[in-house]
Amino acid sequence: MASYLSTDKKKITATRFMAMKGEGDKIAMLTAYDFTMARLLDEAGVDAILIGDSASNVMIGNATTLPITLDQMIYHARCVANGAKHAFIVADMPFGTVHGDPQVALAAAVRMMKESGVDAVKVEGGHQVADSLKMILDAGIPVVAHLGLTPQSVNKLGGYSVQAKEEAEAEQLLSDARLVEELGCCGLVLEKIPSALAKQVTESISIPTIGIGAGNETDGQVLVCTDMLGMTMGFKPKFLRHFANVGVQIQEAVATYCREVKAQTFPNDSESY
Ligand code: KIV
Repeated sequence: MASYLSTDKKKITATRFMAMKGEGDKIAMLTAYDFTMARLLDEAGVDAILIGDSASNVMIGNATTLPITLDQMIYHARCVANGAKHAFIVADMPFGTVHGDPQVALAAAVRMMKESGVDAVKVEGGHQVADSLKMILDAGIPVVAHLGLTPQSVNKLGGYSVQAKEEAEAEQLLSDARLVEELGCCGLVLEKIPSALAKQVTESISIPTIGIGAGNETDGQVLVCTDMLGMTMGFKPKFLRHFANVGVQIQEAVATYCREVKAQTFPNDSESY
């Protein structure tokens, strides 16, 4: 019987990622930011790994995603690409890299692809970044778009509340979803929007939708790995399920280690040379 550690699984390319929607094969995506976590997720069978700019929060400790730099994102993306051999790997383009001159956006995306080895980039926004999306896509770089709550716009949005509850906003989101599909994006993250709207978007476009706080009728789901593992203790928005309590386990293990070092019961004879 093949174990989950075997390498006979085929790499998930952008083409395969897109085909999963037509096959009704729901996409399980998680974030990762380092080699060890990427390898664990990959070997456990996740379909896609996102190097989210949430690295700014959960790796660096910033209050928002805005401060993380392109160099820092490339570093994390390189670590993940070294650890994941099967999953489709997507890296976030950080704040400020894609909202101006499309040539600058292209240069940033090219750097990300060349220096990290990921399979695709993710870009927050729709019509506002259409020229940049076109230029990046024309260069042969697969792009996953991101609509709804776009955390890079937190200062404009005034917080992290549910988006597109009003009809006009919902219509704009639907139109942006159609636009990113038309431009050639290979997927669309929908963050913190009403489930009914996420369902409507999912049924209206041919590219896979990946939800976070968008109900269960999208083509896949994404969560921040440290959140779903229960490592970011104290952070528990409604959409988040803790699939483990790794934070508590780490603290218990560390407390035991401290006690054993102080009591000189670690290392014991069998752990010594
Ligand atoms: O940065 C991130 O982790 C993300 C996901 C939450 C979708 O964009």
